[in-house]
Amino acid sequence: MKLIVAVDSRWGIGKNGDLLKSIPDDMLYYRATTRGKVVVMGYTTLLSLPNSKPAPGRLNLVLADIPGLKVSGAVVCGSMEQLHRLIGQFAPDDVFDIGGGSMYRQLLPYCHAAHITKMRFDGDADTYIPNLDELNEWSVKSESEIMEHEGIQYSFLEYSNASPKPLPTAGRLSSAMSSYFRKKEPIVIDVPADADEQYRQELNALLTAYFYPLKEGFSAADVERFFDEGNGVSFEQYLRNIGAIAAAEDIAAFADRHNAGKDTRRICVTKESFGDQLTI
Ligand SMILES: NC(=O)c1ccc[n+]([C@@H]2O[C@H](COP(=O)([O-])OP(=O)(O)OC[C@H]3O[C@@H](n4cnc5c(N)ncnc54)[C@H](OP(=O)(O)O)[C@@H]3O)[C@@H](O)[C@H]2O)c1
Repeated sequence: MKLIVAVDSRWGIGKNGDLLKSIPDDMLYYRATTRGKVVVMGYTTLLSLPNSKPAPGRLNLVLADIPGLKVSGAVVCGSMEQLHRLIGQFAPDDVFDIGGGSMYRQLLPYCHAAHITKMRFDGDADTYIPNLDELNEWSVKSESEIMEHEGIQYSFLEYSNASPKPLPTAGRLSSAMSSYFRKKEPIVIDVPADADEQYRQELNALLTAYFYPLKEGFSAADVERFFDEGNGVSFEQYLRNIGAIAAAEDIAAFADRHNAGKDTRRICVTKESFGDQLTI
């Protein structure tokens, strides 16, 4: 996983729930870097986005401690463990921690790289992240020239972490492309009679990741066009990036893992019947 953040001279990142300074070039850089990727954010950061809505063109994962919360266009995770399991499904280069403070702090050990926009001013922040220049395992890999906006100098740096912690990868999804084009619908799941809340949440997260691109109207033609535009990602990688990842066989494997020897009830799910949440 990578993180992407703009910091002031004291590694401050926000104040009163907002950014310290919005630099147009930095916004463009952020959009270009995270487009088509998986972005992970805390609920406060979601609320700070335009109209408090997840950005389109990315698979949005939101961590919130609010039972039953639904966010259109995002997968809501209720615990860090659940979030870990979900982001462990993706290639590390495809997942971006986009904040805010609590998310940067908790996920920093798992990040192998960081895109830091350094702004040379003191924004009198109330939210900070650790100073990577003071952490032994982190080092600067590259730095852009220094630019200026409204009197504030800034530059883009890339840091790397020599010893990132691994995330669970047990269920890493492999055959996204063929599953996507086969459009394996309906997905058939054997739900255990004693399915608990954790099972429901995990299954919902997987199904949302699977149906999200279909519901958002991504088509095979969109994918090809995007690929043809030469975004520097492979076809299969792109399919993973847009969230076409929870292939049917992986959901079946999830069910198998939980259901061995249990009393089960078979359900069929399509993108129409799925809605935002699955009632089991
Ligand atoms: N400079 C930048 O590039 C940048 C980027 C993004 C955000 N920001 C700034 O950062 C600030 C927001 O940061 P923040 O730290 O206040 O909020 P945050 O990290 O965006 O979100 C905090 C939310 O996430 C939930 N959460 C965090 N860890 C959790 C866990 N382990 N389990 C369940 N829920 C969890 C919290 O629930 P609880 O309430 O239960 O803890 C809380 O609702 C804003 O000022 C924003 O503008 C700056």
